[in-house]
Amino acid sequence: MKIGIDKIGFYAPHLYVDMNKLAVARDVEPAKFTIGIGQEEMAVTPLTQDTVTLAANAALEILDEKDKQEIDFVIFGTETGIDSSKAAAVYVHDLLGINPDARSVEMKQACYAATAAIQMAKGHIALNPDSKVLVLASDIARYGIRTGGEATQGAGAVAMLISADPKILALEEKSAYHTSDVMDFWRPTYTDKALVDGKLSNEKYIEFFAKIWEQYKEKTGATFSDFEAICFHLPYTKMGQKALKPLLPETDEVTQDRLLENNEASKTYNKRIGNIYTGSLYLSLLSLLETKEDLQEGARIGLFSYGSGAVGEFFTGILQPGFQNALQPARHKEILDSRKEISVAEYEEEFERRLPTDGSNLELEKEDDPSAIYLAGIKDHMRQYVNNKS
Ligand code: HMG
Repeated sequence: MKIGIDKIGFYAPHLYVDMNKLAVARDVEPAKFTIGIGQEEMAVTPLTQDTVTLAANAALEILDEKDKQEIDFVIFGTETGIDSSKAAAVYVHDLLGINPDARSVEMKQACYAATAAIQMAKGHIALNPDSKVLVLASDIARYGIRTGGEATQGAGAVAMLISADPKILALEEKSAYHTSDVMDFWRPTYTDKALVDGKLSNEKYIEFFAKIWEQYKEKTGATFSDFEAICFHLPYTKMGQKALKPLLPETDEVTQDRLLENNEASKTYNKRIGNIYTGSLYLSLLSLLETKEDLQEGARIGLFSYGSGAVGEFFTGILQPGFQNALQPARHKEILDSRKEISVAEYEEEFERRLPTDGSNLELEKEDDPSAIYLAGIKDHMRQYVNNKS
């Protein structure tokens, strides 16, 4: 039985800051951010959006009423959740009106969580072939104003429907994975900003890819030439190629050129949003599928997932016949193009806005947030969500 991605969509906040302008404000050569880091725009989250609403809006883009009845498992991957006890999946399940006879759970391991969610979904469908699983990957990446990580912030969510006989990508059986306790990036529960050793995190990412790729080759006998493209977790869009390039000499030039060309296509949406942590790999996959027009059914796509801390996995999928018909490039272009640019000063102000944490209530003005699902305020410590479309 084939199991894999049947539908995929994303959502990002409606505000962004231009990376050239951020560079100027930080007294940095703009090319460092746009070429050295590889980011053009960075999504900024208004108080009316959080990881729950971003995920719910992403899911709203792909689900129809039949899907909502057939989903019996909602798995929400995030490292920037809104509650230490209650799963963000439960809120999304309610906001979208999903079949009540379902499991809902939240998973965490930095940027790796959504990959674990997909693997869990695959196992669930292998046992229950009629099931559909909604996998959500949603995060708001925050390091802080004027920090080393500032240019690699971002926010957004990817929603995927995992099912048997998928329309887009059938996942293959074998994958390779690795865990090692590394303090390259973490976020203690008392802060909403990630702590990071930037250089170490880059080194560990590259080391993990090399190690896991070796393990994958040993398990499967595959080589780079078996792949049409390899998508990477993209904390910033330069990262994937930094891990790939040192290994490319092991393959022929035609394969090298193909993988590098497709690597460019797989950055398209990420360049305009920034790091969305656990959804970044899947945003990259979507970029590739929706912007590389000559991809053929039957092509093999590799996916490298890396979550600091650290866990990595390399897994693969095969593009399905007619996969293009299940994509929404025009809608995704509209989501990106209709966003509003804000100044660096406005971004800084937005960054510092917080919901009250002392039990006081707050009603939020939706203002110009066009999202169907948004946060209308907080009352008695409970977030008040609204779905305009329900
Ligand atoms: P930095 O010190 O600001 O930058 O840190 P740099 O000095 O390393 O320069 C970056 C690149 O810009 C270099 O290119 C420079 O040469 C180039 P590279 O050598 O890497 O190819 N550069 C220029 N290029 C063109 N024109 C110029 C110019 N100047 C310099 N004028 C760093 C960068 C990414 C470390 C920092 O932003 C950071 O700490 N970010 C957060 C951590 C991170 O994203 N780590 C990535 C791997 S870990 C990961 O992916 C997991 C994560 O997503 C978390 C999770 O799992 O949940 C982060």
